Amino acid sequence: MCGIVGAVAQRDVADILVEGLKRLEYRGYDSAGVAVINNNNELLTTKRLGKVQELAQALEQQPVTGGTGIAHTRWATHGVPSEVNAHPHVSNNTIAVVHNGIIENHQTLRSQLQGLGYEFLSQTDTEVITHLVHHELKTSDTLLSAVQKTVKQLEGAYGTVVMDSRDQDNIIVARSGSPLVIGYGLGENFIASDIMALLPVTRKFSYLEEGDVAQISRFKVSIFDTNGEPVEREAKDANVSHDSGDKGEYRHYMLKETYEQPTAIRNSLEGRLVNGMLDINTFGEGADEIFKNVEHVQIIACGTSYHSGMVARYWLEELAGVSCNIEIASEFRYRKSFVPKNSLLVTISQSGETADTLAALRLAKEIGYQSSLVICNVPGSSLVRESDLAFMTKAGAEIGVASTKAFTTQLVGLLMMTVAIGQHHGMSDEKQTEITQSLMSLPAKLDEVLALASSIEDLAEDFADKHHALFLGRGDQYPIAMEGALKLKEISYIHAEAYAAGELKHGPLALIDAEMPVIVVAPKNDLIEKLKSNVEEVRARGGLMYVFADSDANFASDDTMKVINVPVCDDIIAPIVYTLPLQLLSYYVAIIKGTDVDQPRNLAKSVTVE
Ligand code: AGP
Ligand code: GLU
Repeated sequence: MCGIVGAVAQRDVADILVEGLKRLEYRGYDSAGVAVINNNNELLTTKRLGKVQELAQALEQQPVTGGTGIAHTRWATHGVPSEVNAHPHVSNNTIAVVHNGIIENHQTLRSQLQGLGYEFLSQTDTEVITHLVHHELKTSDTLLSAVQKTVKQLEGAYGTVVMDSRDQDNIIVARSGSPLVIGYGLGENFIASDIMALLPVTRKFSYLEEGDVAQISRFKVSIFDTNGEPVEREAKDANVSHDSGDKGEYRHYMLKETYEQPTAIRNSLEGRLVNGMLDINTFGEGADEIFKNVEHVQIIACGTSYHSGMVARYWLEELAGVSCNIEIASEFRYRKSFVPKNSLLVTISQSGETADTLAALRLAKEIGYQSSLVICNVPGSSLVRESDLAFMTKAGAEIGVASTKAFTTQLVGLLMMTVAIGQHHGMSDEKQTEITQSLMSLPAKLDEVLALASSIEDLAEDFADKHHALFLGRGDQYPIAMEGALKLKEISYIHAEAYAAGELKHGPLALIDAEMPVIVVAPKNDLIEKLKSNVEEVRARGGLMYVFADSDANFASDDTMKVINVPVCDDIIAPIVYTLPLQLLSYYVAIIKGTDVDQPRNLAKSVTVE
């Protein structure tokens, strides 16, 4: 969510900061700003509502020079998106602050600071940090100690960067709940909320941990833990391609990422299936021992990642013979739940930084979960660092806010996890081989599905004037219907709901008329006859259906139904195969609607606030 970039260098940093913000644009934001300290120790702040490009243009017209600076893209939580509320916020022309997250006790602090004579210009919670640092500095020797005193008074989540115009040599950063990464250069150092921002200037990074406060200068980085004790945070080389942020020939990142799925899955499988058998070390050290003792799996995730977890529940119970529950992180973290004996907590997250999922993992440790595993796409992210085991999806950077390749590679990871757990719960060798062979057939199968793009594009027209849509599926295709509905609403802003098809007659059937397109995912499987009855229920009420089905399912297009033939595939991988046509459908509908596909309104890529 939102983005932070900061630099302490000899060269002018404005361009580096703006380029960093551009590389974080995919995370979603509503305004952007930059502040640098010039050679006369003046603070030069430029902010714009809207895109980073607007900020870049403003800086072209009125350039700012200086080697120390901070920049931010804001995703408003407190106060409307506006230039005044955009960060950096400034106190007394000296202290400048950028902040990701939410300061929960901002009202109390605001009143206290107003009592001390501070005047607030914005409606944000962030501004309290600015004035508080200014106030603490009156009784502190250094900016570092003023920030340390300040963060002790903050409740909530923050990644924040502070600078003082009277001190060009240092910026101070603090992390609690929102990620921050230090980038090491030669005679210059950087800070960002995501390594993507800094790839043009460095490849060497260390992640701050919860409660860390750090002082960053050109030649030195000093990190202190919650108790103010100096600590080391290991610096590692980032193993991501510089160009992972490029759209290439594609019109949108989402389309590029949809087309990357065969490769992403190939990468996720590579080296993990040895002679057709799963290499258990894929999940990390001690995985075998943990899987051996697992009697119950609790899956926790949000959004699209939650949908992959829903599919995994079908797999785990049917194929591995282990009981499984799945819950949305924001619900799980705020209720008292029962922890069955020998439970494994599995979190699923593209970003590895989703605030609710992270909080759920931390809670699980407190309430007695034996062990934890994360299925994640971002190495070094908080969920990876705090989990016992990790399966890294090798989807590569996912920039589009609407998740595509992260979802299908999560499903691959979850299917491998099912095999790994199943091995200890009586899954036969034949079954294991059958599953791994199906997995290996996936990339080629997905290439076949992508070849359907133009026939799916033809359907999109029908949705241009629609305000609602219903998605139906049964069994492990029900979560795929949910994912299809989420994709459509996220990027085309059409209200879409998914139902397990058997639920139709318990309410949603009342909605069916010619204005309500019904999308059905219908591979030939054990439930196909049941699903066909549901299709008849819709047909009888005059509904218009779009059916994604293989030829074995025997559907034929007519006045009430358009059938898109999906290649026949093994049942086990069908949830992955049927995801792609739904991604393409939402994409083409969004194109017709003219929405901002990669950065849909109001959404952020990595939701680091609860
Ligand atoms: C996906 O299209 C969404 N933008 C969103 O639901 C996302 O899946 C959710 O926020 C979870 O994110 P995570 O996987 O990074 O934890
Ligand atoms: N809560 C702060 C604000 O609304 C920061 C939001 C963000 O993380 O961008 O300004």
